[in-house]
Amino acid sequence: MFLSESSNHRSRSLPLDREVDGQSHAQRPSYYPGLAGKVVVCTGAAAGIGLAMAHAFARHDAHLVLLDVNPDTLSAAQASLRQQYPDIDVDAICVSVMDSEAVERAFQAIDARYGRVDVLLNNAGISMNRPTLTLAPDDWRRAVDINLNGLFYCCQQAAQRMTRDGSGVILNTASMYGIVAAPERAAYCASKAAVVALSKSLALEWAPHGVRVNAICPGYIRTDLVNDLVARGALDADVLAARTPMRRLGTPEEIAEAALFLASDGAAFVTGHAYVADGGWTANGYL
Ligand SMILES: NC(=O)c1ccc[n+]([C@@H]2O[C@H](COP(=O)([O-])OP(=O)(O)OC[C@H]3O[C@@H](n4cnc5c(N)ncnc54)[C@H](O)[C@@H]3O)[C@@H](O)[C@H]2O)c1
Repeated sequence: MFLSESSNHRSRSLPLDREVDGQSHAQRPSYYPGLAGKVVVCTGAAAGIGLAMAHAFARHDAHLVLLDVNPDTLSAAQASLRQQYPDIDVDAICVSVMDSEAVERAFQAIDARYGRVDVLLNNAGISMNRPTLTLAPDDWRRAVDINLNGLFYCCQQAAQRMTRDGSGVILNTASMYGIVAAPERAAYCASKAAVVALSKSLALEWAPHGVRVNAICPGYIRTDLVNDLVARGALDADVLAARTPMRRLGTPEEIAEAALFLASDGAAFVTGHAYVADGGWTANGYL
């Protein structure tokens, strides 16, 4: 199941003043409590926001289980993270979140290795920019299957373990297009708005069991997802930057930073929240 097996999980306590990227924890711009030693499962972890999240949690000494559908980028991400963060465990499972049975098998493999899931970064998703009048049913289904249904399967699997253990954090990547909308993105907007609603419902259901569930809603972030749309002429990065009050697109690292906070003990009383990180886009009702 795992792309390659490394040594069994070792419990260890890591010194907090360890040097990472030439900086100690004290020198680094952020440090979020309660993440060291946690088992963090990240979907869509091989690229973009998911990969940035994986690096951010690795810097906080969490153990990583990377899930992605692309075996090549997944194995490259695993190799690079292992090389940069030799003190943590980095596992990888190639799986499509659309496949509920494969997702269940992935979590069973995580059980066998770690026995628990502390944090789920439920991030895998695709864009779907098409005129709605001619949107093929298969394209509609694909966006909903990955962005909503796949995300739900992972929530359910993770929460079965978290509610059993009485603790855990789920962070679902929605989008600012789960809050406001854009034309020719019906399946994307609908699936992301559903992720926001789902996150709130699950937060209410699982709060009594010690599990926090939040959604994160990025604005335009410079990843392959956006770069591909720019390259195809479906987006103009300059126009997007001009529409953003901060006059720029965001970076994957900025979304990862918000994820660190929401997953950490610093956000211990935060659940059922849709956390927007969009440079001011959704606040702006003006030009
Ligand atoms: N980039 C943005 O501007 C932006 C804005 C708002 C929300 N988001 C959301 O953030 C998340 C990550 O986006 P990104 O920009 O990093 O995208 P990306 O395309 O750069 O990376 C997405 C990763 O998910 C993986 N993936 C795709 N389908 C999968 C599946 N069925 N199962 C498992 N893995 C799968 C891909 O292989 C890839 O590694 C998505 O949910 C996206 O909707 C992105």
